[in-house]
Amino acid sequence: MVVEQQKTEKTLNPTAIGLRPGLEGVPVSQSSICDIDGIKGELTYRGYPIAELAAQSSFLETTYLLIWGELPSTQQLRDFEREVQMHRRVSFRVRDMMKCFPATGHPMDALQSSAASLGLFYSRRAIDDPQYIYDAVVRLIAKIPTMVAAFQLIRKGQDPIQPRDDLAYSANFLYMLTEREPDPLSARIFDRCLILHAEHSLNASTFSARVTASTLTDPYAVIASAVGTLAGPLHGGANEDVIKMLEEIGTPENASSYLNEAISNKRKIMGFGHREYKVKDPRASILQSLAEELFARFGKDNMYEVALALEEAAESHLGKKGIFPNVDFYSGLVYRKLGIPKDLFTPVFAISRVTGWLAHWREQLGANRIFRPSQVYTGEKPRQWKPAEERSST
Ligand code: ACO
Repeated sequence: MVVEQQKTEKTLNPTAIGLRPGLEGVPVSQSSICDIDGIKGELTYRGYPIAELAAQSSFLETTYLLIWGELPSTQQLRDFEREVQMHRRVSFRVRDMMKCFPATGHPMDALQSSAASLGLFYSRRAIDDPQYIYDAVVRLIAKIPTMVAAFQLIRKGQDPIQPRDDLAYSANFLYMLTEREPDPLSARIFDRCLILHAEHSLNASTFSARVTASTLTDPYAVIASAVGTLAGPLHGGANEDVIKMLEEIGTPENASSYLNEAISNKRKIMGFGHREYKVKDPRASILQSLAEELFARFGKDNMYEVALALEEAAESHLGKKGIFPNVDFYSGLVYRKLGIPKDLFTPVFAISRVTGWLAHWREQLGANRIFRPSQVYTGEKPRQWKPAEERSST
């Protein structure tokens, strides 16, 4: 029997006691990795505008830039790509472990467990050794996509397929997932999606990564904790919920009434709102254009019309509060067109964001102090323990 504890805690006024719920506006680290102007709707990685990188760069080049601070030379990029390619395979032990996961489990839980399991294979915590850091970066960037694709096949009752060395990073992931070599446009658009999701300053999962990193634990634990944080519907998990919401709305004509009903019942519109942006997220605009590129080539998705109608309806209701589409609003429409199942949208986000987490891991180690904030205690004053028969049941 569950006995509900009587609430005795006082709730104090957060402002009066100096609390900043959700740490809004509280700087907790210095960083030179990425910058956001939430009023102008601008995002840069190491000083480069996101639109330029999404148009010109590749995901692995952007990864190199984010983690080591500068764009690689041709040789550096070639070496990095080759290293990543060589480490794409995962041990049969990891694959066998994944076969024991329930097929009905969420792929984010499978990813969190398998990312953590890498620490069992590479447990040395030599985090002041640049070679150890380089190897950990290469392994994680290389193996996370393989693990996401492997769980997809395993849960369907199939054996995972091996990476193909003749395929580049993004094409290889789509191949391992769908068992078909993707057309060049799909592979390029997927690569651009990875660039767009690679880093976004001190969001919840990156903060989680930095807190874990600050204890000097291994990078696999850092990434596993960040994956768990990304999974929540207020963060990366929103991309899956957006598509579910669009399907529930069903037609563009229903968008306005859905919105009104949600707002009057104090329900959030998934894929809208951001702590940093008070305008439309620049990544949402680029993802929208990527979705349109795919629709032009492979045919429209009816849910796109629903999304457009919802965005239009939301403009007058939420726009005045600075609530606009965020990165998760249009990404699912791109992934759907690429044949990626809904519950893999957030793992796909993780494939990309592992880059940002690793960049912050490295930066944290460079000037580390363990995170240990304080709290304001609102519980009981010291009191005496009583035997069970003398306690009143509440
Ligand atoms: N739909 C409706 N109202 C919203 C939304 C939304 N999506 N987002 C914020 N609001 C409203 C809140 O109800 C609140 O209104 P009130 O002041 O009248 O009570 C006000 O805006 C502030 O909202 P908070 O939740 O306090 O804003 P916060 O900065 O803490 O949260 C967040 C930001 C979590 C992204 C929020 O906008 C949200 O829950 N959005 C929906 C989930 C989502 O899309 N998450 C993905 C974000 S992007 C990413 O993490 C990759």
